[in-house]
Amino acid sequence: MFQNLLQDLQNGVLTITINRPDKLNALNKQTIDELHLSLKSAAADPQVRVIILTGAGDKAFVAGADISEFASFTPAQGKVLSEEGHHKLFNFIENMPKPVIAAINGFALGGGFELALACHIRLASEKARLGLPEVGLGVIPGYGGTQRVAALAGKGKAFELILTAEMILAQDAYSWGLINHVVPAEALMTTAQIMASKISARSASALSSAIKSVNASFPSSSQGYSKEVEEFGNCFGTPDFFEGTQAFLEKRKPDFSKGISA
Ligand code: COA
Repeated sequence: MFQNLLQDLQNGVLTITINRPDKLNALNKQTIDELHLSLKSAAADPQVRVIILTGAGDKAFVAGADISEFASFTPAQGKVLSEEGHHKLFNFIENMPKPVIAAINGFALGGGFELALACHIRLASEKARLGLPEVGLGVIPGYGGTQRVAALAGKGKAFELILTAEMILAQDAYSWGLINHVVPAEALMTTAQIMASKISARSASALSSAIKSVNASFPSSSQGYSKEVEEFGNCFGTPDFFEGTQAFLEKRKPDFSKGISA
């Protein structure tokens, strides 16, 4: 039914696997649309009680938004990209009436890490590497990363992660409060299934109420999210964005030697 997703429903637990391993499961438009449809139907299906989201292959959960798709976007298109992503996927997951667990099996970078951050619970393989590399591409996290890292780990760690653009180990993400549990790679899916199966035995209506209540203090409609959309779009009009995305596509280091005077 889907080109870039695998789905498996067992005992009330729907496992959705993002399946573009040759592109490290990067989120292109089609994958975002398919995830939206899959989650929307999971929300409406009484047989689904809990969702596990993971990536195909042993290398990546999701290595980010698909850079090749947006490298030539204008600022206006950049804003739409961010806004639509929030609406269709990231805020959509956060506000799902059913718990969504991210099983982070490898690289979770940029939009991939933001995808995990939008889930209600995050489990990671000890091999996972997480980060928000966007400023190394001349752009910023545009799918909630500027808000959700700060909400989970505090403003200081959010600045460190976003401004250095460096990857961190799963164990560090755990100690920063960004990950609920780190487990050996081979135990990741079993751990996620055990947790999902525990949750699936609880009251579905109470789970939905709990999600709404916890989210009430972290509203995805807040000013921070609109600021992120605006600034993300603005980046698309800068020479650094052109240089950063071209460098990635040409497999070379970007030259950001020109500073700014503000
Ligand atoms: N968008 C588009 N394509 C991506 C991608 C992304 N975010 N991440 C990886 N890919 C593609 C690569 O272009 C490559 O495709 P190719 O085989 O057709 O050339 C393939 O996935 C494998 O990636 P590669 O870079 O060769 O793997 P690696 O092991 O050398 O490096 C990473 C792994 C994760 C370090 C590297 O892929 C990377 O830095 N990805 C981008 C991360 C990023 O900046 N994400 C934020 C985007 S906003």
